[in-house]
Amino acid sequence: MLDDILPLAPTALRHFANPRAEHGPWPARLDAVLDAASFAEAGEEIRRWEDYSPTPLVSLAALAAGAGVAAIDYKDESSRFGLGSFKALGGAYAVLRLLMRETGLPAATVRSGDGAQHTHKITVVTATDGNHGRSVAWGAARFGCQCRIYIHAGVSDYREAAMRELGAEVVRVAGNYDVSVQRAAADAEANGWFVVSDTSWPGYVELPRHVMAGYGVMLDEVVEQLATSAPLTHVFVQGGVGGLAAAVAARLWMRYGASRPTLVVVEPDRADCLYRSAVNAGPVRVDITEETVMAGLSCGEVSMLAWSVLETAADHFLTITDDNVATAMRFLASTGASPVRAGESAVAGLCGFIQSVTDPALASVLGLDGKSRVLLLGTEGVTDPGIYEAMIAPA
Ligand SMILES: Cc1ncc(COP(=O)(O)O)c(C=O)c1O
Repeated sequence: MLDDILPLAPTALRHFANPRAEHGPWPARLDAVLDAASFAEAGEEIRRWEDYSPTPLVSLAALAAGAGVAAIDYKDESSRFGLGSFKALGGAYAVLRLLMRETGLPAATVRSGDGAQHTHKITVVTATDGNHGRSVAWGAARFGCQCRIYIHAGVSDYREAAMRELGAEVVRVAGNYDVSVQRAAADAEANGWFVVSDTSWPGYVELPRHVMAGYGVMLDEVVEQLATSAPLTHVFVQGGVGGLAAAVAARLWMRYGASRPTLVVVEPDRADCLYRSAVNAGPVRVDITEETVMAGLSCGEVSMLAWSVLETAADHFLTITDDNVATAMRFLASTGASPVRAGESAVAGLCGFIQSVTDPALASVLGLDGKSRVLLLGTEGVTDPGIYEAMIAPA
């Protein structure tokens, strides 16, 4: 019985089936947003980095049996480059690409740090809720440039300290994530610094495109790890600005073609910009009035590039409340032989999946049944030990 394994409360869930979702082969027009060559180039580069190794794909077999599906695989990103999240793949790669562009040096020279006499004059800046900033700070330290990180009022002290330890100057602004994005952009403009953002807007797409291409490494690993299994049928992926979901959608669509899995985007109901944009058939800005516990997903504005993929590559949009996050984290921490330490932003997909599969009408609309093979992206591990311990403490 699923209730004995992972008893989630049947809290409010909003669902929107995307009428603009397309199937068939990867649409050539979307190559202008993300193409196979960019994914391949990012993959070749990142796999050369010292300390690179694929992250584990954990089979949640007992949960799959309880949920009545054929398989659930959880891609555990907690060990990615020692930074605690999948974001390690994106921001650092975009820093490398920026430094190549600005200095004219080849990737090998920037990668080795041998170009530091040129790169040290360059300052990269970004706004972050923690994970992206850590990746940018790590890339800046590795490749030898200056780094300033903008965080909003709600970012934890631990996450701030982690970025300082990597050598970044950290600036805390009053307001929410979107305010920190605007401040980083304004300061960069005034000082000749370079914004390395994981979100995009009109006129700012080059580096976020590299960020998303970097995320593709995670999906290529999944395809390799599942090479001998039956193909995936469903992916439940959490959304902030949508960069992750778009990279997941695009890479899997390119790899699986017309038999691509059904893509379900899951967001906190307090930061549901992707859901609302889907309902509205175009980007909608959400004013975040109350922060969700899923800090990495607390974004009010979609990434323009990501949206241009998701508007046809995402099949369903779901919103969840914060109520089940701690239960899902506790469940993963106690999964028998291979416990998983998942951060609060990593389990939205799991919560969305369990709540869908336990609602017969929704399960049927999503096509979840005994043949379903589900991928969950465990996008972060313990990125703040204090928050993690407090959340997994017995209820
Ligand atoms: C752990 C984690 N998961 C998921 C996301 C969502 O990624 P995106 O903002 O690209 O949608 C983030 C974003 O910061 C994150 O930190």
